[in-house]
Amino acid sequence: MENKRRFALVGTGNRGTTMWGKDLLAGWRGQVDLVAIADTNALRAERARTMIATNAPIYGNVDTMLAEARPDLVIVCTPDSTHDDIVVRALEAGADVITEKPMSTTVEKIRRILDAEKRTGRRVDVSFNYRFAPTAARIKELLNSGEIGRITSVDFHWYLDTRHGADYFRRWHAYTERSGSLFVHKATHHFDLLNWYLDSDPDAVTAFADLQMYGRKGPFRGPRCKLCPHKNECDFYLDLEADPFLEALYEDPSEIDGYFRDGCVFREDIDIPDTMVANIHYRNNVHVSYSLNTFQPIEGHHIAFNGTKGRIELRQYEDQPWEMPEEDVILLIRNFPKGRPGVERIAVQHSPGGHYGGDDRLRNMLFKPDAKDSLGQRAGARAGAMSVLCGVAALQSSRTGKLVRLADLMPELFEDEFCSLSRSAAQISASAGRQ
Ligand SMILES: NC(=O)c1ccc[n+]([C@@H]2O[C@H](COP(=O)([O-])OP(=O)(O)OC[C@H]3O[C@@H](n4cnc5c(N)ncnc54)[C@H](O)[C@@H]3O)[C@@H](O)[C@H]2O)c1
Repeated sequence: MENKRRFALVGTGNRGTTMWGKDLLAGWRGQVDLVAIADTNALRAERARTMIATNAPIYGNVDTMLAEARPDLVIVCTPDSTHDDIVVRALEAGADVITEKPMSTTVEKIRRILDAEKRTGRRVDVSFNYRFAPTAARIKELLNSGEIGRITSVDFHWYLDTRHGADYFRRWHAYTERSGSLFVHKATHHFDLLNWYLDSDPDAVTAFADLQMYGRKGPFRGPRCKLCPHKNECDFYLDLEADPFLEALYEDPSEIDGYFRDGCVFREDIDIPDTMVANIHYRNNVHVSYSLNTFQPIEGHHIAFNGTKGRIELRQYEDQPWEMPEEDVILLIRNFPKGRPGVERIAVQHSPGGHYGGDDRLRNMLFKPDAKDSLGQRAGARAGAMSVLCGVAALQSSRTGKLVRLADLMPELFEDEFCSLSRSAAQISASAGRQ
């Protein structure tokens, strides 16, 4: 088909191989053609190519790939601190970009991406799939309806269980330099959800954070799970052989670059916190109380919006040691019912698939020709930047004990030129004179 987007996949770890490789081609083959794969680890790229079932050529160097394959879209799925370099090169080669979250990890890096987007006139989309979860979309509709009046505060608490939470401590995510810490790597989703729900920008953050379970807090440590003398006593032991997909993608390729999928979660040099709380003030005077915990017996989140006329509340289940409800229930609770129900229980079918069903819907939005964006779910570079900036501010506050104003870190993001732009990517690119 003529209008297929010729895309290159950069980074063939789990995320690149599944979400933007195998699954994208399985569901959107009519819209996209995979024309190149790039990864610094040639063996992982080869394994990924087999899993994706493609003949696309493999490159070890992004510049060579851009020059030879000339993709019109580059999808970036490498570790977070490498995104900026690849995004900027792709934009400068004339391609649009979809980058995995977080858009990047530092103020300098997000500035580079924003500057390059402006300079090249190309477009950056950020993969904020949680905006596309059915419960998130329903909450956004309820907030837009004005049912609970003006929002005054939000309670938002995210729980990672001992399997998923520990996974961030096995690999590069466990180093601030590579992930920006979980205030950036993971909370970028959550800060973005808040920015989108509230249709406003955070302007000040105070935070506390600490390492309480992993890293140097662990009782013992080993080189990696596979070779660990403590494997029988360690609650976090990961048996890679029990997961043939992960083993194929990471184990043999680790011989090339020493990147082990089953690194010890108790490594002494881990420098990110595992327990984080933040208070965030928004420009529209909403106060947010946020937390992120990484070793829970449950996986999911609680969120509640407190308004002048009532409250919207959700307990979103993902995994817990009791039966999963088939439906998620949003509670709409009125302060002054005046003949209307005091509480409405709004059932939303629990959606299968990654990220509460958000992954498929995000791909539809980006690739289906007739996709409508009535809720402004599609996220551009400004949204990517704002949620990273909030995470950078939270980490800084937790380390200095001081309140951090976001405009002090990156004044230009709060200047009129940026503020007058809608957060929707469609409007951002329209204002830059693009399609
Ligand atoms: N949107 C989501 O919900 C979601 C979910 C999971 C992961 N992610 C994001 O996806 C990205 C990848 O995550 P992952 O778990 O697959 O990581 P990974 O470490 O498993 O894979 C990254 C791959 O990038 C390659 N790589 C590293 N530096 C490179 C470079 N400079 N050029 C080319 N290749 C390079 C590595 O060899 C590896 O194959 C991360 O940014 C992560 O935050 C997003």
